[in-house]
Amino acid sequence: MPHSWSGFKSRVQKWIINNIPTNKRVLDVGPGAGVYGELLSGHGYQVDAVEIYSPYIDKFSLREKYDNVYVGDIRTFDISDYDFIILGDVLEHLTVEDATKLVDYITNSRIECLVAVPYEMEQGEWEGNVYETHLQEDLTEDVMEERYPELDLLCGNNDYGYYIYQNNKMIWPTLCIDNFFVNANAVVEYSKKLKYKYGDGTWPGQRTKSTHILDSNFFKITTKKIIAALYPNDIEKNSCLEWNATQYFQKIKPSEYPEKGFIHQDISAEFTSIVYLTSEKNNGTCLYKLKNAVKDNSYEEEQKKNYLNRNKKRSKKFKEVLTKNQESYEKILEFKSMKNRMILFDASQFHGVNNYGSENKERLTLISFFHSVRRVDGQPLKFHANECIKY
Ligand SMILES: [Fe+2]
Repeated sequence: MPHSWSGFKSRVQKWIINNIPTNKRVLDVGPGAGVYGELLSGHGYQVDAVEIYSPYIDKFSLREKYDNVYVGDIRTFDISDYDFIILGDVLEHLTVEDATKLVDYITNSRIECLVAVPYEMEQGEWEGNVYETHLQEDLTEDVMEERYPELDLLCGNNDYGYYIYQNNKMIWPTLCIDNFFVNANAVVEYSKKLKYKYGDGTWPGQRTKSTHILDSNFFKITTKKIIAALYPNDIEKNSCLEWNATQYFQKIKPSEYPEKGFIHQDISAEFTSIVYLTSEKNNGTCLYKLKNAVKDNSYEEEQKKNYLNRNKKRSKKFKEVLTKNQESYEKILEFKSMKNRMILFDASQFHGVNNYGSENKERLTLISFFHSVRRVDGQPLKFHANECIKY
């Protein structure tokens, strides 16, 4: 039926508002009477809809409830430009094969989604609309878990369930490889020839320009070594993978940063790699988890001000926000900064530096932010955490 069950809708609305930023492009698939368009209206989202049964568009005034309304079949509709997909009462209308393909495409593309399904509900066509027929009448919480393991149950009861896929979960594994460069000293010697500059206050110390600008060969070789750590089999088939990254040498004078670093995520990247290039062992990187659901962003302004004025004493406010930042997280892993150790972690993982080292020794690292990795043959790239969850 074009009307979905109204239970839990305000909870679902709250979840969307709290988890999906308003600059994300939202697609409601099979809007029917337009319930999700109504739920999100006035909250600042751009919401499009794709409806397979065109008579519903006028019948339910869908053009008034959505920014753009398309007539189309979700099995062939291009969803790649969307950030959040709503599949409210949709999966049960698809065969297991089509629905699995769709959910796999969404999660492998790291598009976030909300799925709502009725459990064990038989239904034929409705007022002449054959698309209303249920092709998965056997859905239950257990069946959902078995068929769509990437989805997590948000809420529901014995008759109906809401599921979500969020891409802020750890997708990339955490790796650590020692003796990473064949000749780390040559890399250190190369780093000494480069120019360094202080940044805009959002990170400590000084960085070079991205190495792809300075020496594209160095960039290609070193980023390929890092990708080889993630995809050792694929990297052998020449040019099977391509990636987009920025990479810098970074120097930090401990005397300029006598306190711990702020715990943060690298929001512009998919994953981050750091190679430690000095022999000091105690200025590595720690990974953290949030102690409660609220992420701490309150430090950013103070960090900027104080990092830009690095010769002045830290302000009282700076110390306060640093303490609050440290107290919001629990340490879950610590990497010592052994020279020539490469670490790699999902950029959505909270991380920070516990200690920038001893007074007189600069901390040198080669830091690479990977923004995307793709297969050139158009096949979807498999993500480690997504793959493991299937078995
Ligand atoms: Fe970082």
